Amino acid sequence: MDKLLKRTHYCGQLTESSIGQTVTVNGWVSKSRSLGQGLIFADIRDRSGIVQVVFGDGTPEEIIAKAASLRSEYSVGITGTVREREAKNDKLATGSIEIVASDLSIYSESETPPIYIKDDDNVSGDLRLKYRYLDLRKPMMQNAMAVRNKMYHVIRDYFYENGFIEVETPIMCKPTPEGARDYLVPSRVNPGKFYALPQSPQQFKQLLMIGGFDRYMQIAKCFRDEDLRADRQPEFTQIDIEMSYVDQEDIIAMQEGFLKKFFKEMKGIDIQTPLPRLTWDEAMNRYGSDKPDLRFGFELHDLHDAVKDCSFSVFTDALKDGGKVMGIDLTDCSSRFSRKDIDKMTESIKTYGAKGMVWLRMEKDEIKSSVSKFFDQQQLAEIAKVFDAKENDLILIVSGKKEVVWSSLGFLRRDIAGKLGLLDTEKFALLWVVDFPMFEWSEEEQRYMAMHHPFTSPKKEHIHYMESGELDKVYADAYDIVINGYEAGGGSIRIHDSGLQKKIFEVLRLSEEDIQNRFGFFIDAFKYGAPPHGGLAYGLDRLAMLVLGTDDIRQVIAFPKNQNAQCVMSEAPTTVNTQDLDILSIQVKKTED
Ligand code: AMO
Repeated sequence: MDKLLKRTHYCGQLTESSIGQTVTVNGWVSKSRSLGQGLIFADIRDRSGIVQVVFGDGTPEEIIAKAASLRSEYSVGITGTVREREAKNDKLATGSIEIVASDLSIYSESETPPIYIKDDDNVSGDLRLKYRYLDLRKPMMQNAMAVRNKMYHVIRDYFYENGFIEVETPIMCKPTPEGARDYLVPSRVNPGKFYALPQSPQQFKQLLMIGGFDRYMQIAKCFRDEDLRADRQPEFTQIDIEMSYVDQEDIIAMQEGFLKKFFKEMKGIDIQTPLPRLTWDEAMNRYGSDKPDLRFGFELHDLHDAVKDCSFSVFTDALKDGGKVMGIDLTDCSSRFSRKDIDKMTESIKTYGAKGMVWLRMEKDEIKSSVSKFFDQQQLAEIAKVFDAKENDLILIVSGKKEVVWSSLGFLRRDIAGKLGLLDTEKFALLWVVDFPMFEWSEEEQRYMAMHHPFTSPKKEHIHYMESGELDKVYADAYDIVINGYEAGGGSIRIHDSGLQKKIFEVLRLSEEDIQNRFGFFIDAFKYGAPPHGGLAYGLDRLAMLVLGTDDIRQVIAFPKNQNAQCVMSEAPTTVNTQDLDILSIQVKKTED
């Protein structure tokens, strides 16, 4: 092997002030080209950037001969003298200088790489993940990991300065009561028994409050077996926080301090606090989402009064069934979207259960509409008035169950904003969504479930609704921090009174036996002087996505899983041989694939 040439500089550090210095760089050949007559150029890349190296103009003959063998992604060390470049390259940070090589070590050669080491390489996501170690050499991935690294420092600094203590909680846990599905780990020494990987450190952080730690934080790995989306991974990282002797306002104030520091240090942006707040009801009714993107308008409007007496039965039936008729006004957009575009939009909201969509076009002298058979100009004008619509506006209306109306219009709002180029990734709209409903009905389980988790405190003034069975009226001391349409974090004040906790379990229809089996240990702890407490957790990966302006979570994780929760590089998960399964007392059922 060629000798190790010890690095004196990173490639990207070299500037005009380095001219005349003898330097050594280590890295990969990004590209090399021979101009003949003993003159070879090579671009050398390391994590800091790229620098041009010249073999010629005084480079020893044998080194020039060796340089002739250089190919992309060879791993090399180069010593040489920095000089001013004749033909400067404005696109390169080091474009005004170059190194004239005096020595070259080839540490290892490289086969032709299966992907280009270029940010704008358009190969499929799976190919990038299969060769992730090469993909990571790209400047954008180097930058993403550097951003995450800085985030760890900013986060730990803030919470350390504020008296938080970082405690590691177990990864081998007891299966969790509610929420997503667990990843299970069999126990060899306890045949037939399983650990679960933590969906979050929720129970442990509450036990740490009972254990006297008062202010806890952790950068914690979490695992959830759920359907993957662009902002979800089965294995992800939370900034997990819990505090004792606090109410919701204390927690929000502490987090606003953090967010201020975070955005200042990561983006150089001063965010104004206190942040705006919306109740969950307001968020749903005004934006059709509990994570509204406030970088743009297009608010939802309720058309109940404008259409309640109309002859269009689709609307009146929806209202009679307790549903809603709502719409959004796309300012100055009528000429922007064709009939075909509108058909596509209608198609796109069918996945949310919408059966159709009504449109109104505000033309110069009349209002055109897909339902002009059922509405005269005056009635259409009544609808337009609700939105204060102007010429060339396009109004889109959806009717049906309120959940269908909210999710359809919520989706359209953001989708259309994307098409109109309104999703500026350098603009940050932060807000708290507060007062979440305590319970939500699960069609699948045919019972009420806790919307956040069963340890969340209902609002004191709503507890009596649990007794009268009016569960839809029970709201919780739960809050989410929403940034640009992402749920960046969420938390709540917890129940610290065993009696109230028991009542919640009854409402969730968990039997005494269930309660004891699933979290008896947790309930027991509350018998020994539990302090009032609460907290929240941020999705660290989601914060990294926002900082980096990407909507793909895989761009901010070094070794992510693909859409099928597989690591295409290592091929995890895999089958295991029967002997290994026997040791774990496990037999795999044959499934028809
Ligand atoms: P929650 O389930 O809301 O709360 O999770 C907190 C935050 O974690 C992020 N997140 C995810 N990020 C990537 N991939 C996923 N699959 C994923 N799931 C969640 C989101 C979310 O806001 N223990 C509670 C917090 C608390 O009450 O203190 C909890 O886990 O950004």
